[in-house]
Amino acid sequence: MRFGRRRQEPPRGPSGPPPIVFFGGKGGVGKTTMAAAYALRLADEGLRTLLVSTDPAHSLGDALDVPLGDRPVRVVENLWAREPDAEAALRRRVRQISDDAGAALPSEILPAVSRHLEHAAAGPGMAESALADLLMDAMEEVPGTWDRLVVDSAPTGHLLRLLHLPELLAPWVQGLVRQRERAVDADRFAVGVVGGSQEDGDDPLLERLHARRRKLDRAARRLREEAEVRLVLVPRRMVLAETDRAAGELAGTGFRLGAVVVNQVPADADPDVLEQIRERFGDQGTVELALTGREPIGTGALRELAAPLA
Ligand SMILES: Nc1ncnc2c1ncn2[C@@H]1O[C@H](COP(=O)(O)OP(=O)(O)OP(=O)(O)O)[C@@H](O)[C@H]1O
Ligand SMILES: [Mg+2]
Repeated sequence: MRFGRRRQEPPRGPSGPPPIVFFGGKGGVGKTTMAAAYALRLADEGLRTLLVSTDPAHSLGDALDVPLGDRPVRVVENLWAREPDAEAALRRRVRQISDDAGAALPSEILPAVSRHLEHAAAGPGMAESALADLLMDAMEEVPGTWDRLVVDSAPTGHLLRLLHLPELLAPWVQGLVRQRERAVDADRFAVGVVGGSQEDGDDPLLERLHARRRKLDRAARRLREEAEVRLVLVPRRMVLAETDRAAGELAGTGFRLGAVVVNQVPADADPDVLEQIRERFGDQGTVELALTGREPIGTGALRELAAPLA
């Protein structure tokens, strides 16, 4: 799908903002607000930007003060925002797995597989992997439909799982590939025995499984090479402790961390905590934003907040 005019040459380059930026952090620190403010900033610089919520409890629309939905909605020039329908994505995903299993597995075990899928679909992991699918689809559109992708995420643990999902799903899809290859080989042998011929690469399901495997590998690689995670925190000891652990895990597993956003800094903030934050995150940089008297809701207020985020 196309959304308006497509740029000929998106302004990019090694020194420009990364193609994909995630905003993460503990609950309520200001991830959604920062993601929206940062995306507005990119859009104002002329970059066609897609802002996506991966928090099942969407609040991007509330922050922007614009009603959003499953499809991208144009917020201002160069900025589109989307609150994906994870339930619908989950249904699509279960249907897809059913189809794949139906083609790859012996028919006598399919009823059991279907029952298993119904149970699995109700599990929490499935909703997350549906969201990972939505995220990968959006990533495939950058560069292309979009110059930049900005992701608002659910609190810390959810984001860590989301970032790891493509590499966790890849071996599972590879298992289906192997099963299908065996089935295709058996078919080819049978066809050969009766004297027919079957060309390589003419199995649509196998092609689709390979494509899915490639997409997962590509996403896993790009999440490490082209994406940046910007952690948001507020100047409180407990929040710093959690952010410290999240940053350690992300860096330790090869994800890039951008400047940390210290948000909602009150006039009477504890100077010791602020100092600890600067020490801990000095290497990657910190940006401090004041706690405003009025909630920064709507594009006007978000633009005011956004300036130091660049
Ligand atoms: N600098 C700020 N000054 C004042 N209020 C702020 C500031 N940043 C965010 N807020 C407000 O704090 C509240 C929480 O912000 P936000 O929803 O962006 O946090 P979140 O981290 O996305 O929360 P959740 O974990 O629930 O997704 C909102 O009411 C928001 O308007
Ligand atoms: Mg939020």
